[in-house]
Amino acid sequence: MRLTVWNRLDACKLPKQFGYCLCFRYFCTAMNNPKRYLITAALPYANGPVHIGHLAGCYLPADIYVRYLRAQKRDVKFIGGSDEHGVPITIRAMKEGITPQQVVDRYHAIIKESMEQMGISFDIYSRTSNAIHHKTASDFFSKLYQDGLFEEKESEQYYDEKANTFLADRYITGTCPVCANPNAYGDQCEKCGSSLSPEQLINPRSTLSDAVPVKKKTTHWYFPLQQYENWLKEWILEDHKEWKNNVYGQCKSWLDSGLQSRAMTRDSNWGIKVPTPPAPEGGGGKVLYVWFDAPIGYISATKELTDQWADYWCKEDTKLVHFIGKDNIVFHCIIFPAMLKAHGGFVLPDNVPANEFLNIEGEKVSTSRNWAVWVHEYIKDFAGSEDVLRYVLCANAPETKDNDFTWKDFQDRNNSELVSIFGNFVNRSWVLMHKLCGGKVPPLHEDAFDDNDKQIISEIQSSKVKVENLIEEFKFRDALFEVIDLSRKGNQYMQKKEPWIVAKQLGEVDSPAQKSIDNCLHLCLQLTANLAILINPFLPTTAKKMLGMMKVVDKILDWENAGKIKLLSVGYSLREPQLLFRKIEDEEIKAQVEKLKAGLVKPTENKSDKETAAAPISVKPEIVFDDFAKIDLKVGTIVAAEKVEKADKLLKLQVDVGFETRTIVSGIAMHFAPEEIVGKQVTVVVNLAPRKMRGIESNGMILMAEDNNGKLHFIKPETVINPGAGVS
Ligand code: MF3
Ligand code: ZN
Repeated sequence: MRLTVWNRLDACKLPKQFGYCLCFRYFCTAMNNPKRYLITAALPYANGPVHIGHLAGCYLPADIYVRYLRAQKRDVKFIGGSDEHGVPITIRAMKEGITPQQVVDRYHAIIKESMEQMGISFDIYSRTSNAIHHKTASDFFSKLYQDGLFEEKESEQYYDEKANTFLADRYITGTCPVCANPNAYGDQCEKCGSSLSPEQLINPRSTLSDAVPVKKKTTHWYFPLQQYENWLKEWILEDHKEWKNNVYGQCKSWLDSGLQSRAMTRDSNWGIKVPTPPAPEGGGGKVLYVWFDAPIGYISATKELTDQWADYWCKEDTKLVHFIGKDNIVFHCIIFPAMLKAHGGFVLPDNVPANEFLNIEGEKVSTSRNWAVWVHEYIKDFAGSEDVLRYVLCANAPETKDNDFTWKDFQDRNNSELVSIFGNFVNRSWVLMHKLCGGKVPPLHEDAFDDNDKQIISEIQSSKVKVENLIEEFKFRDALFEVIDLSRKGNQYMQKKEPWIVAKQLGEVDSPAQKSIDNCLHLCLQLTANLAILINPFLPTTAKKMLGMMKVVDKILDWENAGKIKLLSVGYSLREPQLLFRKIEDEEIKAQVEKLKAGLVKPTENKSDKETAAAPISVKPEIVFDDFAKIDLKVGTIVAAEKVEKADKLLKLQVDVGFETRTIVSGIAMHFAPEEIVGKQVTVVVNLAPRKMRGIESNGMILMAEDNNGKLHFIKPETVINPGAGVS
């Protein structure tokens, strides 16, 4: 139960330089001083590696915020982990022909490593398949059930009678009523983007067995969100007007259109079993809805991290902030808070800073088309340049609208901002200090201050508050620009002071030249120390390198040191300069763009001459291995088949070849009825050029063997395996 006054305090949008809000409507010196912070970043589905859109969306902003809070010496816990339940995991398992557990084990490890390497400094990176999470989520559900909060409702759901299982909408495919795409899903058509329900599909089929789904009654437990509508309206629309516009706007439109009960259980074998009661012992094939269990994962992970977890989750003076991507807004702002409220005893989020999406080279990220820059691949290709990616993703963060990542922009920002401005300033300061000041921090002569000196001092002093306010408001881009701007001012200062020119006047006793050089380099060195503090939340590895050059310990990075000009003592000897950033060459960028394009999964575009391969018994001329290796053979599953009008011999097939479903026209109509071959596996030449037959483009060829009776047989694996498996 949160005190309303706290929320009202947070609602003030005025700047908070002085530690209290300037509206003076409430006495709120405490508002910027919660006792502890609990920061979460959305738990990624462990159904694939993470791409840079994930980083830009929530992991990087969360990490910047957390590193800043730690530098402020705040009590903070940064919680993350893998979301290992739900349909995305089971779909991936099905596609790869492995178990869901194998899927999550594989991707959890990959994701965890990518996060570490990118410096995402979770206090814990857990996973929702852990026993502690199963217990926490299950107890949470039981509490709501015991309190009589769920509505138990019977409804009709699609069921696969062959596979003996209920079908999530994603497991049903059929023809899209909007664009006639034959491979639309029961929840969405990926071709035209329409969101669908299974009822709307033409010729619906189960992706598990190809059976026609039938409706069957099933019971589920619904959470009555509408009962929380008034409370949510007040809590969000009144008390959290300071939330980002995109977040506030989405919440408002949900709340304005009215909330409805939402099923919190599903029929599935993968997930957290619904506890008994209400489910029979063993769950009865029912699991918690993934969006019920996953956010509770934040609580479980905190439990796993510390015995003091309840301080973070239950005490009013905790500031809870959820970092997420925009597709998660409703779950974190409406459903999860309503669950927490219903359960009682938990703090609610103070803020939910959601980012929009990051496109790649002008196109939406698509994991199925492999249009993405994968973090683990970046790390391989640009080892040692993790901070550069952090920089570009923050400078280009989709904070208020979708943004575009391009490799060209990546190169430009590295070369003309990190190398030419920030890196250049630090490097010049170091080189000149070694050349003109014997490698030591020169003294500061206040009696010889000129306007330039005074100005740079005031810039150093004021930048702390600027960066601080921007970070507190989750404006990480602007905060980062402030830091870069400070280094730009350092360059300008040096350009005005020209110590290398002034040095020519040295030699005369007591010449003002020495003092001018001393002041310039002294201030440049202090500025460098300040830059290390300010850049640290954004580019931690760079900050560490700078500490090395300054021969100082981590302690100097404490935020309270920012704005000071006495960080390095006079006479202290400093190390040789070390390059902070290297230039990125055109070839590297070209290679990345090519890699992106080459990885794109799309229908092949070669030429062919035959559509079937009923070879006579004769031996063709010898070929070399390389000739054979050109042929790309894959196992496919026929997912649909129909006669081609006015063509007795032809069948139009839809064949799932793993990475996509192809239309293949095959001359087998005299041998097979369409309905008897759906679900059969076949071997497909997938890199054969498309060919039009009766106006239909055929994309590939199915291998067949003809027996002595002239009957055709499919060439297929002995047992059903995953479509897309290579044949060689
Ligand atoms: N796995 C979800 C996604 O990637 C996010 C889950 S966030 C949590 O969209 F709160 F539910 F954990
Ligand atoms: Zn469609």
